[in-house]
Amino acid sequence: MKKSVIFTFFFTLITLQLLAQNELIANIYQRNTISLDGSWKYIIDPYENGYYNYRYQPFDQQESPGNGAFFNNAKPKSPADLVEYDFDQMNDIQVPGDWNSQKKELLYYEGTVWYKKSFDYSKSEKNGRLFVYFEASNYKTEVYFNGKKLGTHIGGFTPFNFEITELVKEEDNFLVVKVDNKRLKEGIPTLNTDWWNYGGLTREVRLVETAKTFIQDYFIQIDPNDAEKITGSINLNGPNSNNQSVEIKIPNLGITKKLKTDQKGQVDFTITTKNITYWSIENPYLYDVSIQTQEDQTTDQIGFRTIRTEGSKILLNNKPIYLKGISIHEESPLKGGRGHSKEDAEKLLTWAQELGCNYVRLAHYPHNEHMVRLADQKGILVWEENPVYWTISWENQNTYENAENQLAELIARDKNRASVIIWSMANETPNSPARNIFLKKLAKYTRDKDPTRLISAALEQKSYKDSKTIRTIDDPFAEVVDVLSFNQYIGWYDGLPEKCETITWKIEQDKPVLISEFGAGAKHGLHGDKNARWTEEFQEDLYIKTIAMIDKIEKVQGFSPWILVDFRSPRRVLPQIQDGWNRKGLIAEDGQRKKAFFILQKFYEWKK
Ligand code: GCU
Repeated sequence: MKKSVIFTFFFTLITLQLLAQNELIANIYQRNTISLDGSWKYIIDPYENGYYNYRYQPFDQQESPGNGAFFNNAKPKSPADLVEYDFDQMNDIQVPGDWNSQKKELLYYEGTVWYKKSFDYSKSEKNGRLFVYFEASNYKTEVYFNGKKLGTHIGGFTPFNFEITELVKEEDNFLVVKVDNKRLKEGIPTLNTDWWNYGGLTREVRLVETAKTFIQDYFIQIDPNDAEKITGSINLNGPNSNNQSVEIKIPNLGITKKLKTDQKGQVDFTITTKNITYWSIENPYLYDVSIQTQEDQTTDQIGFRTIRTEGSKILLNNKPIYLKGISIHEESPLKGGRGHSKEDAEKLLTWAQELGCNYVRLAHYPHNEHMVRLADQKGILVWEENPVYWTISWENQNTYENAENQLAELIARDKNRASVIIWSMANETPNSPARNIFLKKLAKYTRDKDPTRLISAALEQKSYKDSKTIRTIDDPFAEVVDVLSFNQYIGWYDGLPEKCETITWKIEQDKPVLISEFGAGAKHGLHGDKNARWTEEFQEDLYIKTIAMIDKIEKVQGFSPWILVDFRSPRRVLPQIQDGWNRKGLIAEDGQRKKAFFILQKFYEWKK
């Protein structure tokens, strides 16, 4: 057999093995990590010249890619050598952080940027394993380490990690990452969105040191059918995973349980206990839960609660709750651009609490992990959403697998967070047979992965039969969800605010109803008659009339108006008013509150 055929066969085999990124390492903030945040070198590469040769063949599929491949971080070995790039002479870019808000020339850029980080690593006394963990990177990310391809990740808002144990050296390691934020018709999300396409290594990057056999993952929650039973599963990763002793401790419940993993390094367990302090909005109690094995130990803070629906009620710990919410995009209220930090999360959730919220809809994609960990601590309920937004390529199998994979990564990261009560499958997707098959499959997948939470999606409303004044939800997916949510913009896209006084609602499903969006644009500081669009008075009047209309819908158990803060969108180009911003925020991007903020705040204070 020709040498090149043999090479191709083994190269493909290794590549396929490498390309599948490793299972996510759980509880990343409690692991032994080395931050790679800070200054990286970067090269803007709109023609992907560092990735494809002149015949448009990927260098990383060539036998000897040579100096053209940026992932080799090549340097001339002699004065005659041809190398047409040099990371180390390039400027710095900060990680974490999108490139759009860091570099003026990249504000609208959609394409490839290469990142390079060099570091030494003293592995002398360590005989464990080493991974590189990305909290998120938007959108398609190809990761190379010391010239070797680790793999590819698709999706801009969920974490992924690759093992580099066998590749790391004591000195001069170089991590090269190709990030491409081009929007794709077959992508998740697709070409058409109403938010800024922030590209880059938008969240933290870190090395993770683990034992040879370590605690990979665990899921520990209250049994949905028995509030006095804690159920869980733990799985280990490494050569000694099977038949391994595992001890789980919950000191404040006086629990210590000794377990043994099976042949696959996994163990399921249940713990029955009477005196649980349930996590709640009023008392967001978190238990220290520690897991110990022969070689590894990790401790997480977990809240135990139940969430379920009964008819048109949402029950938290068997008590009906009303979700006083607000929708939020992941933009930094402190410095603009894609939010990522604990400080960003603290600011956004503090503003939500000042508004009187006990619930936030994190639109339209998974936000950073700080948001849900802070929501756990603050007692704020959370709706998390997969970016299946608007006109997705429903018939494309790769698109479905991409959507399922991003949802799987979100669930893997946040499945132990008490604050997360709703997994949202989609936002405003047009009803069609292909879309219904796609979403039903996604919902089934989610229920199988996580039976402890509720499923919803932001649907759309329509006229009831040919009535001019009655609205309803007529969507096959409404039969699948646990919570019936829909966006409505009566008074903004659909007539004017007084139209709210003529509309009634006929919700035929016996399910809890959430209004997942309503709102109006207003430029902060623009005042005038309440009939003048874009004034704060117009937005204020819409909130008054919409809230009055919503409060009459008996199955409504809450709502999350659109939106907490004005946010960047390339769709919003009205000079002097929008200038590239969606102005439906209750707070302007400089933190100033608009009049409608106080209307909603007053309603939430009043609403029991
Ligand atoms: C839609 C959509 C949002 C969008 C909003 C708007 O409901 O879900 O993503 O920003 O309307 O038009 O402002």
